[in-house]
Formats: sequence, structure tokens, C-alpha cells
Amino acid sequence: MAETGFARFQGKVALVTGGASGMGREASVRLAREGAAVAVVGLPDDPRGAETVQLITAGGGDAIYVGADVSREADCDAAAQAAVDAFGRIDLCLAAAGILHARYITGDPAEHDLTPGTREGHVINKPIEYWEKVLSVNLTGVMLTNRAVARRMIAQGEGGAIVNISSGAAKIPMPGSAEYSVSKAGVWMLTRCIALELAPHNIRVNTVAPGVIDTPMALGLSQDEQRRAAFERIVPLGRLGEAEDIAEASLFLLSDHAGYITGQILHPDGGLFTG
Ligand SMILES: NC(=O)c1ccc[n+]([C@@H]2O[C@H](COP(=O)([O-])OP(=O)(O)OC[C@H]3O[C@@H](n4cnc5c(N)ncnc54)[C@H](O)[C@@H]3O)[C@@H](O)[C@H]2O)c1
Repeated sequence: MAETGFARFQGKVALVTGGASGMGREASVRLAREGAAVAVVGLPDDPRGAETVQLITAGGGDAIYVGADVSREADCDAAAQAAVDAFGRIDLCLAAAGILHARYITGDPAEHDLTPGTREGHVINKPIEYWEKVLSVNLTGVMLTNRAVARRMIAQGEGGAIVNISSGAAKIPMPGSAEYSVSKAGVWMLTRCIALELAPHNIRVNTVAPGVIDTPMALGLSQDEQRRAAFERIVPLGRLGEAEDIAEASLFLLSDHAGYITGQILHPDGGLFTG
């Protein structure tokens, strides 16, 4: 039977990419609050990673920060190994690392270079290295993360659960951001393929595909009062999502409460993609 109350992850070890900020940080804190030891994975030298660990340890939880670029296979392997070295095993994985565009670092709207002189970054104008950068982090990075943790879960022989963060952009085309939409659609199909491959090992793999969430990635929208108000009018539930909305959806899918769910996509989006 699934655990009840607020200790769904007692004795479990989680690896969370994108854990230095936004929804990855929120999920890391909540996983730890419910008993998991957490390997918080983020870019090397990102000072926000230590803050996530501090939030967890201040609450009595157990966490380490592991610097890794998820687009590099050796980094993903080293991160998974670091979790095993620190905590003995890996049971859970949330792959939340991602970038909105090739120059994305912290979400500062000034980072969003739409390739001046072109029509807003349309595919026909886009530098190929911009396309490759987004695909390498958002899609290849999720694949590399999934297999690094899955290899260790298989060796442990006790199953596991993985959640990959996709986006509503997986289903809704975004002109000017084709590489982002394509990467997130890829995460959705990757999840379904890997879910079937890992099912014999009792490792469940699901996707959470958020709407627009008030994290660093949405700063361009959330900090512009007019854009924010206009957006809130078109969301059926009347607000931007919060990191906790995505963390809770992810924790459900990681928990034994979702023990018969694999290969699925869940849209915490306030109803945005319903109609
Ligand atoms: N905020 C939204 O509206 C929204 C909507 C749908 C999907 N998403 C997705 O949610 C996920 C989390 O984003 P967020 O909204 O919390 O924003 P965020 O910027 O706070 O989180 C993204 C994290 O990924 C890390 N990262 C970037 N490149 C990396 C790399 N190569 N290796 C390791 N880590 C790397 C960043 O440093 C950051 O900590 C992303 O995959 C994003 O695409 C966000």
C-alpha cells in the first residue's frame, strides 16, 4: 500500500536536475520534507545550488549539491554516482533542467537574444548552434539523466520512478521558439519509449508538462504587469502557476500513490490547454 501522511519518501534517495532554482528547487525541498535524501543537480558553480541545499538542511533534511551539465554524458554519470556514493542508492529522479533559448541562464529577459535583424528567431533565420544548444540540454540532457539513474536502479533491482519535465509547448507550436517546442515534444515521446523499456524493471517514467509557471524562466512575463494581467485573463483558473503546483504534481507521480501509472503526461496548467 502507498504511504499516507507526509512521509511518502522516507528512506528513498532522489536525484533532481535543475535543482538550483524554480520548480526543481521546490520539488527538492518537498521531497526532503517527506523523507528523501536529495542529490540536487545543477550547473557547476551556480551559487543557487548551495541555497537549495541550505533550505533542505535547515529543515532537517539531507542533501548534497552536484555540479553537472546535463548535456554531457560524463557529467550525468558522475552525478548519479555522486548520489549513490553519498546516500547508497537512487530511487527517484526528477529531470527538470532546461533552457528557454540558447542564451538562457537565469531568466533575465535581457538574455533573450532574438537574433537581431531576423524575424524573431524564426527557423529560417536561426543560427544552427542555437537550435543544437536547446536540443542538447532539454532533450539529450533528459535522456542522459534518465539512463544514468535507470542503470543504477536496474542494478539495485527494486524499481524506481522518474518524472521528466516537458511543457505545454510539447503540444502547442510556439513560432520563434521552434527548438524549445521540439525539445519538449521530444521529452514527451522519449518518456513514452523509456517507460516501455523500463517497465519490466518496475521503473515508472512519466512526464509533467506545465503551463506558464512563475519561476525564473517566466520572468519576462511575470515582471511585466500588463503582460501578466493579460495572460491571467486567458488562464481558466485565473493565475500563473507556482513552482509548488509543479512540485506537487511531480511528487504525486514519483510516489507509490501513482504506482500503476507509467508513460503518461500530466498538464498542471490551470486549464490553459483544455479548450
Ligand atoms: N516556468 C515555466 O513557465 C515553464 C513552463 C513549462 C516548462 N518549464 C520547464 O520547467 C523546467 C524548470 O524550469 P523553471 O521554470 O523552474 O526555470 P529555472 O530557470 O528556474 O530552472 C531551470 C534550471 O535548469 C538549470 N540548467 C540549465 N541548463 C542546464 C544544464 N546544461 N545542466 C544542468 N542544469 C541546467 C538552470 O541553471 C536552472 O536551475 C525546465 O525544463 C523548463 O523548460 C517551465
